[in-house]
Amino acid sequence: MEIFLDSSDIKEIRQLNKSNLINGITTNPSLLASVKTDFKILLKEICKEIKGPVSAEVTASNFNDMLKEAEIFKKIAKNIVIKIPLTQDGLQACHALSKKKIKTNVTLCFSPSQALLAAKAGATYISPFVGRLDDIGENGIELISDIRKIFNNYKNLKTKILAASLRTVDHVNKVAVIGADVATIPAKIFKELYKHHLTDKGIEIFSSDWKKSGMKILP
Ligand code: G3P
Repeated sequence: MEIFLDSSDIKEIRQLNKSNLINGITTNPSLLASVKTDFKILLKEICKEIKGPVSAEVTASNFNDMLKEAEIFKKIAKNIVIKIPLTQDGLQACHALSKKKIKTNVTLCFSPSQALLAAKAGATYISPFVGRLDDIGENGIELISDIRKIFNNYKNLKTKILAASLRTVDHVNKVAVIGADVATIPAKIFKELYKHHLTDKGIEIFSSDWKKSGMKILP
């Protein structure tokens, strides 16, 4: 499974990229708006730091303006992926961009049928939002599972499942078990992926036993 950071904070992206475990970045208008830097400058910096796919989301709601905004994004860096909301205009724009071999990430997906339409429109990635379904008492993880089954049924559907709106380590574990192609994860959750209390306890025991032996590996 590929791991993307769901972030527009260039400092935290640079810091976590030192792990060599970050395969890409997803941004959205809220994340970009939260950083007081011009979006073109910020996206250029992110695309310099991360060589993998960097999603930048259109803010227009009509087909023509979505394509115009996509043109602007594409000029920023080669690894920009055009993120598009799952609407009729959005899937029309997705189809047009896909025909021109421009990578797309169809976002704000909340149902299997939406994901199926996005895949038929040629989306490179589909972003089902797990956490926001949980927020309304629905089962976000089940959506990932349903989409995985649908895409497995039809070999002509090449769209990658990019599990999004992940709020816990358990969300990440579960979408990996299901077989999501990508998980886009906030920095806070990414850092928690390393942790388990038994790992800490085990290190403590090993270290204490080693100290008692009096032996040293380093001179
Ligand atoms: O950026 C897309 C998605 O990951 C947003 O997550 O937590 O705002 O629902 P969230």
